Amino acid sequence: MDTGLKVRTVLITGASSGIGRALAHQVAQAGGRLILVARDAARLERTLTEVQAHGAAAVAMRADLADPAQVRGLVAALQRAPEPVDILVNNAGLSIRRPVERSLDRPEDFERLISVNYLGPLVLTLGLLPGMLARNRGHIVDVSSIGVQAGAPNFSGYVASKAAMDHFARALLLELGRRPIRVTTVYLPLVRTPMIEATAIYEAFPALEAQQAARRIGKALIERPVRLAPAWTTALELLHTLAPETMRRTFALLHDPVHRFLERRAKARRARSHRPGAQEEH
Ligand SMILES: NC(=O)c1ccc[n+]([C@@H]2O[C@H](COP(=O)([O-])OP(=O)(O)OC[C@H]3O[C@@H](n4cnc5c(N)ncnc54)[C@H](OP(=O)(O)O)[C@@H]3O)[C@@H](O)[C@H]2O)c1
Repeated sequence: MDTGLKVRTVLITGASSGIGRALAHQVAQAGGRLILVARDAARLERTLTEVQAHGAAAVAMRADLADPAQVRGLVAALQRAPEPVDILVNNAGLSIRRPVERSLDRPEDFERLISVNYLGPLVLTLGLLPGMLARNRGHIVDVSSIGVQAGAPNFSGYVASKAAMDHFARALLLELGRRPIRVTTVYLPLVRTPMIEATAIYEAFPALEAQQAARRIGKALIERPVRLAPAWTTALELLHTLAPETMRRTFALLHDPVHRFLERRAKARRARSHRPGAQEEH
């Protein structure tokens, strides 16, 4: 990663695992100062020790993003900190894979998704924005999913919560106009992290490693684009807008056969490696 981060303080939520942990390593190697946020004290401490081993100045702050009082407490602690946050990476996230028809009696799942993926990051963003506006500098980076662009059957609650954050970001960046504060949304494809471990068929899907996903976010930290997304999912997003009925028919035709094919492939892989199957829903 570019050494332009040397004089920057980067706050990463979800730094205790997966992509956030990998990004923390990369920011540390580029010389950035780090504020690491998550709930799990032991795993957060592990990331802290690792980034300090790279020589980075870093602190860990525990907070549950689903609890607005804890997020407000985090904001208050950040406002008292000697170094202001230059770059906020809203990376922490929760995913639930479940068809709508099996979610009918589980509205609490949608509430959890909205709390972790939208309301928590929103309160954090609103808390740090006044400081960024006062200093006339800052960068907010939201980690989203290509599911928002491409359509994601079985992930209605997840993509809805991610889309809420994406649209907040889009409105904010337009309101910021010519001010030098940037807002970036990074749309990631499937990434092999604990988030997807519970879904057996993902073993048969091509996926990025956490380090590769973190490099994409790292690129966004340096280049500060409005959005960073694979070309093929941007093309699908365009098709959903231009030809929604064709897209609906294509999904209706292909979804089940592709799903069955991937299930067979994942099953064969597990049989070869003598592993039991993971749960379908998470
Ligand atoms: N993996 C993928 O295929 C994929 C694809 C597209 C986008 N993404 C996005 O990438 C981001 C990182 O996901 P990942 O794959 O690295 O998942 P992961 O390994 O499961 O990590 C999720 C992180 O979020 C934190 N977190 C979860 N709930 C939280 C809460 N209530 N409060 C505070 N922190 C919380 C977790 O920390 P604690 O448990 O310690 O709190 C953990 O550090 C997410 O926003 C996800 O939606 C992932």
